[in-house]
Amino acid sequence: MLEQAFPVAAAAFAFASGMAALHTVMRLLKHGDQVIANEDIYGGMHRLLTQDCTNSGIDVKFVDTTDLNALSKAITPKTRLIHLESPSNPRMRITDMRGVCAIAHKSGLPSRAAPQRKCVDIVVHSATKFFSGHADCTGGLVCVRDPELAHRVAFLQNAEGTALAPFECFLFLRGIKTMFLRVERAQQSARRVVNFLLRNPHIEKVLFPGPGGCDATSLAIHCSQSKGSGSVISFTTGSLDFSRRLVDACKIFKTTVSFGSVNSLLEMPCTMSHASIPAEKRTLPADLIRLSVGIEDAQDLILDLEQAIKVAAGELSSTPHGGFDSEFQDLPVVPPMVDKTIQDDGVSTAATSATRAPSARFNLFIQGEASSDASGDEEQSAAEFVPAMPLVLPLAVFAVCGLSLLRLLK
Ligand SMILES: Cc1ncc(COP(=O)(O)O)c(C=O)c1O
Repeated sequence: MLEQAFPVAAAAFAFASGMAALHTVMRLLKHGDQVIANEDIYGGMHRLLTQDCTNSGIDVKFVDTTDLNALSKAITPKTRLIHLESPSNPRMRITDMRGVCAIAHKSGLPSRAAPQRKCVDIVVHSATKFFSGHADCTGGLVCVRDPELAHRVAFLQNAEGTALAPFECFLFLRGIKTMFLRVERAQQSARRVVNFLLRNPHIEKVLFPGPGGCDATSLAIHCSQSKGSGSVISFTTGSLDFSRRLVDACKIFKTTVSFGSVNSLLEMPCTMSHASIPAEKRTLPADLIRLSVGIEDAQDLILDLEQAIKVAAGELSSTPHGGFDSEFQDLPVVPPMVDKTIQDDGVSTAATSATRAPSARFNLFIQGEASSDASGDEEQSAAEFVPAMPLVLPLAVFAVCGLSLLRLLK
């Protein structure tokens, strides 16, 4: 089924999430290899590259892949993979994929590639987005052109147990049936939302692969390699506080990091999807807002944004969110707790979380995971993990002892 959907692929593999799919692609590399990635990429991928792949001896280099000269210069004999997103997340920058492929294959990358190849070797999808379409399951797809590569991906998927679970397979097969209709509708509405944003005096810049959202060259490249402009829009307001107020005041657009649902969604990458990138390494403005336009009535969406912009500008007082299907909810508050700090001399000290930076709690359990100012979903999930730990161990011991006892009694 998936292989039919990607006629240029020799094989396509379904994974438990987009990140599991990307992880497997990175596992194709070995110690000493180099990966070049575009400098504007999804925060989770940045984390995988800089905090995981580097531990396996992979060299990671970030380059502006929209600049083909810069990319050419960055390639070394160690380069094995060029990872890129176009449009990129979150600045919607357009990379000329044919140009990149020509450079890559001219440089003999990957080494076994036939010279006549003009196309990408691996396509990765976060199926969590539009394939699912209902924000109720995660999945990732890896599509490869080369049969030998397909065998290696199949081996890794089997060896590492990263395949998509059966029930999720059913959900994705169901989601794919309406994918075309959902994407078409969302795309049409997104163009109307873009036109509204472009005309609004409080919006500084709109980043979108369509008229008014990018320069003419980027638009021409995008149109030559893609069938539509999509339904994800980035924009800035010129003020971090203004952006925060705007996001808070939205009623139909719901705050979340994962996009591509039938419901309209929004996020601020700096504190959410890209919070794990250290502030000094981020290439995105702090006031950037990302929208994922859903399939609701486009006029309702525009009215929602219009009232939120007015609230942010102090021209309208905010009203309660009652009556909407996708009511905005504040991100859950992390409960205060006592944490332990391991000092250099090995002595533990305790401090209440209220007096410490949130990232300190996180680092204790997941080394090097958190950014200095992570404050979105990612921090929340880690914090939930922490208090559960004292419970898990006794329960596991209890279960093992219980089973042994049962066996003895038999
Ligand atoms: C560009 C990009 N790659 C990868 C992912 C990760 O996908 P998943 O959430 O399915 O793990 C995301 C998720 O937002 C993304 O935007």
